[in-house]
Amino acid sequence: MIGKGGCPEQASAKICMRVLVITGAGVSAESGISTFRGKDGYWRNLDPTKLATPEAFARDPNLVWNWYCERRQRIRKAQPNPAHQAIANLALQADEFLLVTQNVDDLHLRAGLPPEKMVQIHGDIFMTRCSRCEFRRYEHEQEQDGASLPKCPDCGALMRPGVVWFGEQLDLRKIGEVENFVTGGDCDLVIVAGTSALFGYIIDWALRARGQAGQLIEVNPEETSLSQFATRSFREPAGVALPRVVDELLSNGSA
Ligand code: OAD
Repeated sequence: MIGKGGCPEQASAKICMRVLVITGAGVSAESGISTFRGKDGYWRNLDPTKLATPEAFARDPNLVWNWYCERRQRIRKAQPNPAHQAIANLALQADEFLLVTQNVDDLHLRAGLPPEKMVQIHGDIFMTRCSRCEFRRYEHEQEQDGASLPKCPDCGALMRPGVVWFGEQLDLRKIGEVENFVTGGDCDLVIVAGTSALFGYIIDWALRARGQAGQLIEVNPEETSLSQFATRSFREPAGVALPRVVDELLSNGSA
């Protein structure tokens, strides 16, 4: 029984821990979704400035939409893997939990992660939003025909993918949700999995959330700039390491 920090002992498998999990493309790699910077990564073969910037969209919206339609299609066909399932399991069992994912796919949700416990900090690939006004719609089932560019039914401007592109600001409301969690109390455990951790805000949230005494676990076959701060590192694929880490946590109450 895990009774920590004044949390009442519980008969269920619930663990009395405050947990932040941060994920990146590596967590979806075993579901067949390419990472961005790996050896088969999207950015190895494509120039991001040609595809994932507002300027690229203004220059050639067809090219950008084709790329996103193809990615949507690949994600629709993909299935969550054991890493997504382990994280969803942890979310359901931890007393306080937040997942911050840089992934725009829906595999965490399809693994059973409650939507209110997740922030998709780089947006959602199935969201289509107006490039001018506030109109947006969710298009998980609906396939763009590719022949004609989608126009906003409210103002007639071009619709665009609801993701964050290079050079764009993160959504302030989403930053607020993460900040609320990070400043709401030190985490007992922070897990960072499958990300090259190249963005300052990812490192900042991970380090601030763990506070003075929390554990920081990194799951990544390769070292990253966060590795030096990790209290434990698993140099394995997330689908292998995370189910083990979560099982260990749920049975011992500690990582
Ligand atoms: P990256 O492609 O930069 O990094 C993927 C990381 O996953 C690397 O560190 C790999 O070593 C690791 N990895 C690969 N396979 C793995 C596996 N099976 N299990 C665990 N780890 C594995 O992807 P991100 O860090 O997510 O942003 O990239 C961050 C952001 O950069 C993306 O969200 C995207 C991109 O620009 C936007 O589009 C705004």
